[in-house]
Amino acid sequence: MLTIDELTEQQALTELKRIAEEMAKADIAYYQNDDPYLTDAEYDALKRRNEQIEAKFPQLKIANGPSARIGAPIKSEFGKVEHKIPMLSLGDIFSEAEVAEFTTSVNRFLGYDNDNQITYSAEPKIDGLSFSARYERGKFVKGATRGDGKTGEDITENLKVIKDLPLTLSASDVPEVLEVRGEVYMSKADFLELNAKCESEHKKTFANPRNAAAGSLRQLDANITKERKLSLFVYTWGDVSNIPWKSQSEFLQKVRDWGFKTNPYNRICHTTQDLIDYFNFLQQERADLPYDIDGIVYKVDDLALQNRLGFLTRTPRWAIAHKFPAEQAFTKINNIRVQVGRTGALTPVADLEPINVGGVIVSHATLHNEDEIKRKDIRIGDTVIIQRAGDVIPQIVGVVLDKRPADSQEFVFPHVCPMCGAHAIREEDEAVRRCTGGLTCPAQAIERLKHFVSREAFDIEGLGAKIMEEFYNEGIIKTPVDIFTLESRNKRLRDDLFAALDDGSIYLEAREGWGKKSVENLFKAINERRHISLPRFIYALGIRQVGAATSLLIAKHFGSFKAFEQDMLNRDTTKLLEIDGIGESMVQDIVEFFAEEHNRRTISELLQQVQVEDFVDTTDYSSELAGKTVVFTGTLEHLTRAEAKAKALSLGAKVAGSVSKNTDYVVMGADAGSKAAKAKELGVTILSEEEFLNLCKH
Ligand code: IVH
Repeated sequence: MLTIDELTEQQALTELKRIAEEMAKADIAYYQNDDPYLTDAEYDALKRRNEQIEAKFPQLKIANGPSARIGAPIKSEFGKVEHKIPMLSLGDIFSEAEVAEFTTSVNRFLGYDNDNQITYSAEPKIDGLSFSARYERGKFVKGATRGDGKTGEDITENLKVIKDLPLTLSASDVPEVLEVRGEVYMSKADFLELNAKCESEHKKTFANPRNAAAGSLRQLDANITKERKLSLFVYTWGDVSNIPWKSQSEFLQKVRDWGFKTNPYNRICHTTQDLIDYFNFLQQERADLPYDIDGIVYKVDDLALQNRLGFLTRTPRWAIAHKFPAEQAFTKINNIRVQVGRTGALTPVADLEPINVGGVIVSHATLHNEDEIKRKDIRIGDTVIIQRAGDVIPQIVGVVLDKRPADSQEFVFPHVCPMCGAHAIREEDEAVRRCTGGLTCPAQAIERLKHFVSREAFDIEGLGAKIMEEFYNEGIIKTPVDIFTLESRNKRLRDDLFAALDDGSIYLEAREGWGKKSVENLFKAINERRHISLPRFIYALGIRQVGAATSLLIAKHFGSFKAFEQDMLNRDTTKLLEIDGIGESMVQDIVEFFAEEHNRRTISELLQQVQVEDFVDTTDYSSELAGKTVVFTGTLEHLTRAEAKAKALSLGAKVAGSVSKNTDYVVMGADAGSKAAKAKELGVTILSEEEFLNLCKH
């Protein structure tokens, strides 16, 4: 996998989309079906990579993408509970250096010297499901899950059957309204017992204690919850009528006195080193604990300081989760294969002896390109170290040379496409080798079709990657145009059964797993896309290097497909080159695309089927920010990054990810790091958030 610095904008966008899709799928599996297929480490890795890419390419951030979400939408069957105080989540860190960064930033924010010692409550991060339990006058009245943080599910009846939760609080100093929050979990022993039972009853077993807890808690029938043994710890609070504690540790003491369970490993720490020592200590204890933990939470203990520190968008500034590192494992490379992508890029993939890495079975790893194989000297038969940290796709860290078999063989990268046999060539300055087969290469054709219907292109519901592959292989859809002629072709087939028998194909309604309704829905989805926005259409063409962001730039600049196409057919690149953000090499790819006869034919056939809407630009060019390049850094108080970016863009500014001499303004929020320093060094104007907002008004 490419490092963040290696990513081009196009690759970053593809990656962001892939991550968003993957995370959305994983969220549904995890939150709604209680049946995840990613480990927590994998999920965290995805989240982290997403954050890193977004930080480098803020302009590519996907609205409602992974970074804008906490948790999952709630299941509809449960009643809803609005959280008076939102249930937020915590930022993640993964290294000792980041612990120091955290304590330093706390001190800095509070205006203290860095050697100032702040008291922290360090607590095991319980790997379960967060819950909220509300008491009124000492009586338990309402239980809720976190849901999306604002609205959760009503699990009052389910919480009632968990023995660790007191139903009445008899102490005299319990506030009139008291909402405690914590984690419901299943102990490792209870998990094993439950799975054994499921197995003996030939029922589906749970992947891990967390899912077993989720599946057991979120039962509409609380009797089932009762049968399964669940436990809980309390670690924070929500709505409280009159808060009698002054610190997190006092809170923990109080609720313990009132009869709640708190974690026995919660500790007070004073220095960064204390936190790190405690982390290392618990990492060793971890395996012997009766329940799963996935890291340590550090919280500023003093409530007054917590209040001063406040919150970032979705996470507190006064707390952070230090996650245990992802695991590594050794395994053998059984084979190296080469896959062919949409643009003909040949990507080597290692088939591995399946191995469990941090709870997930890994059987493939990408090798990126031929140079990477050479650089790491990876050979078939080698034993390699696999890692699943920081990246979703498992990485090969390196080869264990001691274990290299005598007959190991260097991998010879093919110079012909393994799918179609056409020459595969490598341009001088490119890392990838490409198949020259174009559309005659089935691998490329399928990948292009998948791209054509993908989310930011035509986004046709019901035509996912898998169906597309099936349809291609069966000759039902060979080109994008075929998608739009499918309905009439299908109708002919259906109406003329003899024709159907003649050429062996059957109409869609008769396919296995398909019915009248699903076919109707498919055609509805296709027909809805007969009107398509200009940026989507350009993106869907799948021109090399032209991602969604570039398509938008082109759409804005040309306004209509006709205008763009006209210039390209005339090989007139003047106007295209005027666009900031589009360079020579991209222009060359665009021109080459239009020079290809089959591409021109596809476009003209497509235009008979779909109507491309002209682009209406809503940008306000009269503002002071118009044409300026803005970089955001640090944490903004009044706006989220996405909002700030959207604001700047709507005023005609460009938003860049890093500071250069072309930057006009750096908008600096709290905890700004190297970008602020760079701005000072280059003499770029630095704006506070207020100053930026003022500029927006002009
Ligand atoms: S404090 C404002 N303390 O980790 C944040 N959370 O993303 C309040 N968790 O949703 C959370 N153990 O489900 C806190 N000792 C602990 C925790 C803990 C587990 C979970 C919780 C939260 C997630 C953080």
